[in-house]
Amino acid sequence: MISTTVLQYRRKTLLSKMTSCSAILIFASPENIMKQNEYHFCQNKDFWYFTCFDEPNALLVLIKQDEFNNQQILFNKPKDCNTEIWVGPCLGQNLAKIRIGVDYALSWDNIDKDLSKLLNNIKILYHAWNEYIEADKLVFNTLRCLRNGVDSTPPNTIIDWRPLVHEMRLFKEPEEIKLLRTSCKITSLAHTRAMKSCYPGMFEYQLEGEIHHEFNYHGARQLAYNTIIGSGYNACILHYTKNKDKMRDGDLVLVDAGCSFKGYASDITRTFPINGKFSKQQREIYNIVLTSLKCALLMLKPEININEVNHHVINIMVKHLVQLRLLKGIPNKLISEGAYLQFFMHNLGHWLGLDVHDVGSYGTSINNRILKPNMVLTVEPGLYISKDADVPIEYRGIGVRIEDNIIITKNGNECFTDSVVKEIDQIEFLMASRKNLKNVL
Ligand code: GLY
Ligand code: MN
Ligand code: MN
Repeated sequence: MISTTVLQYRRKTLLSKMTSCSAILIFASPENIMKQNEYHFCQNKDFWYFTCFDEPNALLVLIKQDEFNNQQILFNKPKDCNTEIWVGPCLGQNLAKIRIGVDYALSWDNIDKDLSKLLNNIKILYHAWNEYIEADKLVFNTLRCLRNGVDSTPPNTIIDWRPLVHEMRLFKEPEEIKLLRTSCKITSLAHTRAMKSCYPGMFEYQLEGEIHHEFNYHGARQLAYNTIIGSGYNACILHYTKNKDKMRDGDLVLVDAGCSFKGYASDITRTFPINGKFSKQQREIYNIVLTSLKCALLMLKPEININEVNHHVINIMVKHLVQLRLLKGIPNKLISEGAYLQFFMHNLGHWLGLDVHDVGSYGTSINNRILKPNMVLTVEPGLYISKDADVPIEYRGIGVRIEDNIIITKNGNECFTDSVVKEIDQIEFLMASRKNLKNVL
């Protein structure tokens, strides 16, 4: 878990970016109630980043008077014996102050009055509008109260804090790199288990169960995103999560699954033959994607940008697709016309961290973000040949994606997801070792 020292360091860093006489408000997620039962609670990731506090009805307030004077305040629920009978203990003010390392922990029950006092005479307020209706209402009412009050002055400027915070989250610290590494390790084990337990006639949801079992077994009880088990044509549906079909002998299955471990996401995709052996056409498409991934992994390092790498990947894909006669024409012309987009229609990768599609600016298409050490991202080339594509029939419905998770290092990158195999020989070898292949149902 992230230590209190690191949490304090993060809050100090944020304070150093704020102007004098300002305050910042970072709200926890609200509670989701469903007919007297709570939905699974998912904490706001920005709030979590600064507190590692997993309760709803909470607010972090940082106040900066000047360079030398600041206050860190948490509003959280007071202890309440009656609620604790139903949902278990909450931290309360005394423990929260120590565990999170703030200067004061105040009761959420008095937030209306206390927030007005704290924000009186503050010039600049940092707030992220439109995240939660209740949070916006509270801020709006506090400002109105200060405006209408005798002897009170509300902030005159409101600034969105998200660009500041998300830039911090883009660069991973040693403690969170360790957690990301573990998250990737658990997800790698789950993908290996999937390859070892897959057989023709199994249902996609049964394979999903194997993966989720491995996540839980290793203490990662949350998913980073909904698991995708797309067999046959379903592999070409990019966000296929129904996972309801029976898997057929001779088809591929695309498995895109990742756990969230102590809040940190991993995001791996592997594609493999349900019966353990690639056909000629599956092998050809798979090899184009694998070559693209390897090229990207060689190129991703400090001072390069993702667009540049993407450009090389597209060159490789188009060259090979022309060789297979799945695209017809001159490669450069096909690229400038975007002819490859029917087969590869998503980005090459995305930031990875507390969120699976993590926060942080990608720059613009003209001024694309330059990579730096300690950025963590996915690399995920794919080719999806729809069943209606104008290509020879034996290629139709083949969908392949291979996705790894990497960290940019001083001189290149390190792959966190290497331990789950991706070479054709390795996959076939691993799957040949399957025991007790059931042909149930
Ligand atoms: N699993 C979502 C993605 O690969 O972006
Ligand atoms: Mn991804
Ligand atoms: Mn993915």
